[in-house]
Amino acid sequence: MNAQPRRVEHQQTDKGSVPVYTTAVVEQPWSTYKTEDHATWATLFRRQREILENRAAREFLDNQRKFGMTPDAIPKFDDLNKVLRKATGWELIGVEGLLPELTFFDHLANRRFPVTWWLRRPDQIDYISEPDLFHDLFGHVPLLLNPVFADYMEAYGCGGVKAHGIGAEALSTLTRLYWYTVEFGLIKQDDGLRIYGSGIVSSKGESIHCLESPAPNRLGFDLERIMRTRYRIDTYQKTYFVIDSYEQLMKATEPDFTPIYTRLAKQESIPAGQILQADKVYHQGTGEGWANDGDV
Ligand SMILES: [Fe+2]
Repeated sequence: MNAQPRRVEHQQTDKGSVPVYTTAVVEQPWSTYKTEDHATWATLFRRQREILENRAAREFLDNQRKFGMTPDAIPKFDDLNKVLRKATGWELIGVEGLLPELTFFDHLANRRFPVTWWLRRPDQIDYISEPDLFHDLFGHVPLLLNPVFADYMEAYGCGGVKAHGIGAEALSTLTRLYWYTVEFGLIKQDDGLRIYGSGIVSSKGESIHCLESPAPNRLGFDLERIMRTRYRIDTYQKTYFVIDSYEQLMKATEPDFTPIYTRLAKQESIPAGQILQADKVYHQGTGEGWANDGDV
């Protein structure tokens, strides 16, 4: 009945590391976490909180506190859900690894956020190619307490289900929006640019790089521009997009994207590091250290 959930990870094949997908929803097997797992959580939590103190969005840091996340132990999904359900009606569900796109969108559209139950090994502290418990919980969950961001995530899920029905091109256009907002977004606050993207807050190196390095571009949010922009999956981003507020995100995603997909299909995609004349430029990157190819 309550078999131990599997740990579904990328697999090494003769074609390199390939992702493996799973659809199972599982109970978080909290009692099976070892001392080593709690220690890995503590190391990551302390390190990132220190780096993020004056770099992450205010809500992100405040909401981690509201959830009661501490370095003492891996949080229990049940405890977080008590806070989350009451605040925004979202719920965390345990999963074994990467989900197929449509399954993922369907969960978001129904205000369920999938969290990988397992945590990276100590030798993966600095880098892991797939989302694990630290990325999902530490990185994604805090902003689900923000009512506007919570609505944005649901709208994104609904948009994903729809794009999936339209075709592969619509889907890759929409994926760029998720990438440049939910995963790698910056927000302008009174005291300067701050991080809200989960892919950044769960990475020690990128948390510093995205704000302090002269290399990347930092540009104002523009929905259709982002939907045309390729990105990096193997290096830090060449460009980060800055929102003014979560309301701006929510408002931008209100219209039906179907005519946008049709329009954008006729236009060239934009290389990850390129700046356009119409861009609002916070910082023009020096491009130092950029790889010449590899945008996806
Ligand atoms: Fe993520």
